[in-house]
Amino acid sequence: MIYIINGPNLNLLGKREIMVYGTITLDSITENVRALASQMGRVVEFFQSNSEGEIINIIHQARDSAEGIIINPGAYTHYSYAIRDAIAAVTLPTIEVHISNVHNREEFRHNSVISPVCRGVICGFGIEGYVYALMSLDTYLSERNQINRGQ
Ligand code: DQA
Repeated sequence: MIYIINGPNLNLLGKREIMVYGTITLDSITENVRALASQMGRVVEFFQSNSEGEIINIIHQARDSAEGIIINPGAYTHYSYAIRDAIAAVTLPTIEVHISNVHNREEFRHNSVISPVCRGVICGFGIEGYVYALMSLDTYLSERNQINRGQ
């Protein structure tokens, strides 16, 4: 099971700043990524919350239920030490995703307090970023399983 967590304002995808984030809704991203996951033989669970505490609770829940996390923390990326600590605490391979290229936008978006506790960061590839994150997590988890089985 892989948790895919979306933070604040991402429920408005498709309606929000479409020049930056495009016209695709979170529901269609969910559908596409779920279809890809099932081709890979993986199960994905989607969550979206506008509240920091709820996102932290979902990360804690992942500790017992998930093998990995894909997270777009929205604006919390830039200042939530609490979300960063939650990711560090659960020690699951985590990939940070941003739809937009945060580095060619406002200065406050250039820094992520989340990246140092993630395996990798994908940003600027639009909603394809979720697909790339899933592919990369799938490869990592498969390789890790092979190593654990001594192959
Ligand atoms: C975002 C980038 C953040 O800076 C912004 O606050 C978001 C979305 C992205 O996906 O590009 O809400 O995480």
